[in-house]
Amino acid sequence: MASTEFDAGRPTAARAYDYLLGGTTNTAADREMIDQALTFMPDLAVQARANRDFLHRAVRFLAGAGVRQFLDIGSGIPTRGNVHEIAQRAAADARVVYVDIDPAAVGHARELLAGDPRTTVIQADARDARGIVAHSDVRALLDFAQPVGVLLVALLHVIADADDPYALVGALREVMAPGSFLVIAHGTGDGRGEDARRLVEMSRRTPTALTLRDRAGVLRFFDGFELVDPGLVWAPLWRPDGEVPPDPERAGNYVGVGRLP
Ligand SMILES: C[S@@+](CC[C@H](N)C(=O)[O-])C[C@H]1O[C@@H](n2cnc3c(N)ncnc32)[C@H](O)[C@@H]1O
Repeated sequence: MASTEFDAGRPTAARAYDYLLGGTTNTAADREMIDQALTFMPDLAVQARANRDFLHRAVRFLAGAGVRQFLDIGSGIPTRGNVHEIAQRAAADARVVYVDIDPAAVGHARELLAGDPRTTVIQADARDARGIVAHSDVRALLDFAQPVGVLLVALLHVIADADDPYALVGALREVMAPGSFLVIAHGTGDGRGEDARRLVEMSRRTPTALTLRDRAGVLRFFDGFELVDPGLVWAPLWRPDGEVPPDPERAGNYVGVGRLP
């Protein structure tokens, strides 16, 4: 996919997600698509928030487990509580590499991170996972001989089956040292019937259309990893640090953290 497909006249996943999170890095095309989607799936903003909250808890968990380096692929447009902020609050020496395919996400991250020697951002395609882990900027900051936290949060559901997302995760697993962690949040159509189909249809307006997967399809990404408690669950149920909503399935995403033995 050429980055020239990203233009202001066409919505993108990164800008649409930014709009859902209350950000300002989005265009009329993004807002129109999301406003339409909200008419039949009003929980979309709840879902985006639940994913971010899970990401924060997972990063704190990894830092608590001793992880000091993070590879955040499909990192999105910077927002409140970015991974390096959460990680460095828990461990000041934590290093973070952000990767995104979208030039808007990468450009904003570069501005935000300028002058911070413990963070880097590269524009790259997750479907070339081997290229990412071999990238000189990535290698300059991350040591794959040590445990790393690989974050694929709300990313794999924008990778089509035809692009073999399982092989992508397998290529990452190959370079991860024992004791590394894989963090996944993945949208699902489970329990959402026709509305999920409409959402997928609408996402075709972006260069990175949605592929929602069922629970078994998401679980498969953790092949070779040991899921930490509580396993693969709706986002609000993963090690909550506050009150759990009565209807966690509204979050629409399965999440989990796997440890490489
Ligand atoms: C829904 S956002 C998630 C952002 C962030 N991970 C979070 O959970 O808050 C998905 C991100 O994946 C990026 N993305 C989509 N396809 C990608 C690909 N093939 N390679 C890298 N990034 C991709 C999009 O540009 C977007 O920023």
